[in-house]
Amino acid sequence: PSEVRAAGAAGRPVVVAHRGACAYAPENTLPAIDKAAALGFSWMENDVQRTKDGRLVVLHDDSLRRTTDVERVFPNRSPWKVKDFTAAEIARLDAGSWFSPAYAGTRVPTLDQYMRRIEHNHEKLLLEIKNPELYPGIERQTLKLLRNDGWLDRPHLTGRLIVQSFSADSVRTVHRLAPAVTTAFLGRPGTAELSRYAGFTDMINPSYGTIGSAYVSAVHRFTGPHGRRLKVYTWTVDDAAHARTVAGYGVDGVITDRPDVVRSALKAA
Ligand code: G3P
Ligand code: CA
Repeated sequence: PSEVRAAGAAGRPVVVAHRGACAYAPENTLPAIDKAAALGFSWMENDVQRTKDGRLVVLHDDSLRRTTDVERVFPNRSPWKVKDFTAAEIARLDAGSWFSPAYAGTRVPTLDQYMRRIEHNHEKLLLEIKNPELYPGIERQTLKLLRNDGWLDRPHLTGRLIVQSFSADSVRTVHRLAPAVTTAFLGRPGTAELSRYAGFTDMINPSYGTIGSAYVSAVHRFTGPHGRRLKVYTWTVDDAAHARTVAGYGVDGVITDRPDVVRSALKAA
């Protein structure tokens, strides 16, 4: 946990590459994390969901339509929900051409493939359990995969992992099942609710348009389940002016599609 604890300690927010460096490569793919790494970033954000046959895959939308060629490959399967396709079917899809012909043939990664690339590259992962209401038990399943890959019991890996969700129930479940894991709630609970959240989450990660200095200070007054001050990572900040604004609020992290832009802005601030 030392690396997570160190986040923001120098006073400058940690920069997290949202869905990889997704302004520059197709989101939630291996090339997107490689691109972020090539730009010099080590924290990646991604989204995990589940296929019809129970495999965990990395994808943002609950439908495959926007970020793959599923409509062309399976024209009669509208509305092309992830949960209605098998992993083998999804493995046939092109998840890169919609972004640029340069990425033709890029695949939707399984979470397992994604974690192996992250570990190989010595990166760190802010993993979002997406749409957990569609996938009962996805928290336990995700943690099982992480455990099998060694992420839950090797301190050098545990410190490189944060699990987050827009669902407070999901975050609470992750904390209950794997208390060593650093957790984050995506959203902006009212200040009167923060003491309750501090029972199961280490971080409050709100949209930047919903916060100001007072809110960040209010969150920082609470101590999370691991005895550390609650942190705030805000999203999705893609331009220099907003990056400087949220840094002024005192946030601990900035989640961005354009990590290089945010880094330059924060260096100049
Ligand atoms: O990590 C924050 C951000 O990813 C939450 O929104 O819709 O991009 O998953 P979304
Ligand atoms: Ca996300």
